[in-house]
Amino acid sequence: MNKAIILLSLILCGTLAAADIKLPPPVKEGGMTLRKSLAERRTRRAFSDKPLSKQMLSDLLWAANGISSKDGRRTAPTARNIQELELGVLLPEGAFLYDAQNNKLIRRSAEPNKGPVTIAIIWDTGKQPKKEYAAVDSGFIGQNIYLFATANGLNSVFKATFNRKSVTEKLKLEKHRQVIYVHTVGFPK
Ligand SMILES: Cc1cc2nc3c(=O)[nH]c(=O)nc-3n(C[C@H](O)[C@H](O)[C@H](O)COP(=O)(O)O)c2cc1C
Repeated sequence: MNKAIILLSLILCGTLAAADIKLPPPVKEGGMTLRKSLAERRTRRAFSDKPLSKQMLSDLLWAANGISSKDGRRTAPTARNIQELELGVLLPEGAFLYDAQNNKLIRRSAEPNKGPVTIAIIWDTGKQPKKEYAAVDSGFIGQNIYLFATANGLNSVFKATFNRKSVTEKLKLEKHRQVIYVHTVGFPK
């Protein structure tokens, strides 16, 4: 009997650990004015361990590269609307891909991440072979994140130098999907 309960608990824990995360619908207003956010935007690298709420995560990811019109266009532009970039989301509870259509996080692994949230900008080289386009498109996402973070009392840093191998492995990416930059976001320390 006891063994059965232990087995059931283990299965349940395994299922929970492997689960995707459904996000609440993003709130598309609020924060400080655009001009104040531009005036106060800064790279700030010190983060507390306090996790972001699911609502804030949803709002942040929508601001970064969410869907903003019925035809599927995004908050960040891409050359010829190719949309070669997607977002990986590294959380203490695992590594995920942001599914903007369904507003959820699709689990890729249970590998934990240090710090509240690191957003990996993933470049699909099959969709857009030119790195200069993928790089400039990434810059728009980075600026969206910087402005959202500033407007909502969060610190953030955009990075070109990071452990690519580790992030790629956590997200279990195929060869044609490359992590081009990361952007870490969290409450100030
Ligand atoms: C393309 C790019 C790459 C960057 N890479 C890193 C990085 O690898 N590590 C880091 O700590 N900051 C990185 N930064 C942040 C810059 O150091 C920062 O934006 C710069 O010092 C200006 O500060 P500000 O953002 O507060 O205006 C990067 C910024 C950009 C735009």
